[in-house]
Amino acid sequence: MAIKALVFDAYGTLYDVQTVSAVTDKAFPGYGDYITQVWRMKQLEYTWLRTMMGDYQDFWTITRDALAYTLKTIGLEADQKHFDQIAEAYNNLEPYPDAKEALTALKGYRLAILSNGNPGMLNALTRNSGLDKYLEACISVDSMKAFKPDPRAYEPVHKQMGLAPDEVLFVSSNGFDVSGAKRFGFRVARIERVTPVALNEEIRSSTVIGPKTMFKATRMQIEGIGHGPDFVVSSLRQLPEVLATLTKSAA
Ligand code: 2OP
Repeated sequence: MAIKALVFDAYGTLYDVQTVSAVTDKAFPGYGDYITQVWRMKQLEYTWLRTMMGDYQDFWTITRDALAYTLKTIGLEADQKHFDQIAEAYNNLEPYPDAKEALTALKGYRLAILSNGNPGMLNALTRNSGLDKYLEACISVDSMKAFKPDPRAYEPVHKQMGLAPDEVLFVSSNGFDVSGAKRFGFRVARIERVTPVALNEEIRSSTVIGPKTMFKATRMQIEGIGHGPDFVVSSLRQLPEVLATLTKSAA
């Protein structure tokens, strides 16, 4: 089947979760990087735990619970208003520098997001960053009450866009999401934001492994659970080349 649509993961793929550090740094000087990394790690863990426990809560609740957990590990507290402001950073993430250019170059294909984010978060994120103009749909896993990589989380693409899995090129940087999407049946392009060689180098040259390096090692590599990507790109700008390869191989 020919590819009709590109469906993007949001957090870590189109949007840089590291950009919350501008807010966490300001809120708790000296702890910004630690908070940014542990917050994101726990946010993802809570999606997996809640899906496995059959105790779904939406991604906004999970994001807030993960932030509360993180602050507790340092013994820091924020009053309600301050806490709300910090959590809001997830609705104001910066897109990666290659996002707009890539989406522009992909005009002609159906373009959408499929994300763990709930509809309110995704609408805020895409509106605040101006990416809404390029996207036909912002699809949330929320209607399925299951987070990625549970197979149910990928079903709404068919339900909302009428696309069969093999008509979709799914794009993600998140290793677990790459494996989940591939197992579901999508063609998958992984955007490699940190190469294994760069990571090896960073770890070998560090005397102390900091939170950001731990994040890169545990959350920004291809997972060792099979279902690897069909393509690996270093920038979203390379997606037109991936599509050309797929078209050639289908002909
Ligand atoms: C997303 O669903 C996995 O956080 C990632 O946008």
